[in-house]
Amino acid sequence: MKKERIGRWVVITGASSGIGAEFARQLWARGYDLLLVARRMERMETLKKELFGSEKDSTNHSKERNILTLSADLSDIHGVDALIRKVEELQEEEKPSDVGVWINCAGFGAAGPFSEIETEREVDMIRVNVTGLHILTKAALHIMERQNYGQILNVASSAGLFPGGPYMATYYATKAYVVSLTRAIAQELKEGTSNIYIGALCPGPVNTEFNDVANVKFALTGITPQNCVQYALKGMDRRKTILVPTITLKAATFFSKLLPAGFILPLVGHQQKKKITE
Ligand SMILES: NC(=O)c1ccc[n+]([C@@H]2O[C@H](COP(=O)([O-])OP(=O)(O)OC[C@H]3O[C@@H](n4cnc5c(N)ncnc54)[C@H](OP(=O)(O)O)[C@@H]3O)[C@@H](O)[C@H]2O)c1
Repeated sequence: MKKERIGRWVVITGASSGIGAEFARQLWARGYDLLLVARRMERMETLKKELFGSEKDSTNHSKERNILTLSADLSDIHGVDALIRKVEELQEEEKPSDVGVWINCAGFGAAGPFSEIETEREVDMIRVNVTGLHILTKAALHIMERQNYGQILNVASSAGLFPGGPYMATYYATKAYVVSLTRAIAQELKEGTSNIYIGALCPGPVNTEFNDVANVKFALTGITPQNCVQYALKGMDRRKTILVPTITLKAATFFSKLLPAGFILPLVGHQQKKKITE
């Protein structure tokens, strides 16, 4: 069944590759206009050309379609502010200018013993995965509160559902923050009269550039970004708060809640150690 779009614009951070780029493809196919955000402008321009040339747009919204790209470093508060300003400008200039969907996907990891990972890299990670995402979630929510509708998806990770992640400690901690924040906001929204949806996507391994950036190899077989995003969009349509795409990770995260942290942490650490490239 063809899905109707909710509003006009989709904002996607981390749109230059992997999961974010795939959200762009699948949401473009649903008829949305796109604001793509990442640092690598040339990647987003290539994606833009691909989408304008695609035949995926089988909706009735093909007239006056639009894709905007914004190069912003989301580890820098100026980059985060630039994105918020861009969306505000869009709302002033364009009619109708509502933001139907906001996907906070930008993020990265780093692997190794905590004492050996460069502090600067970890702080950058916290700025992108936590601080930037936090500020953008609130900005998206304020926009959607004015509209009284919209969907926000924070891309967390199955890492955020475990009690901790030895040898990828900071990454796991950032994703636990995203899961906790998103769950709490979702509950607040459910207790009010809001139509706004918020959820956290918690995939296990997905075959993207994530590994190269984090300098790891997956210990488990990854799924494709296509499958991951198809699953996510279905979950958003069903208003699920925590979205875990594969049965393996669903089972692993379920059992990790039943067992003591002291039992789970060495197992997670063992899996993480296997990922570290020598
Ligand atoms: N792949 C996996 O196995 C996996 C599993 C669970 C969760 N995730 C999460 O999924 C999200 C997307 O990752 P991916 O797998 O698609 O990896 P990816 O292919 O490396 O994509 C990461 C995206 O984040 C953007 N980004 C990173 N640092 C940024 C910064 N400082 N400012 C702006 N944008 C920045 C990158 O764009 P630029 O480099 O162009 O700035 C890129 O578009 C991340 O939040 C990741 O933690 C991934």
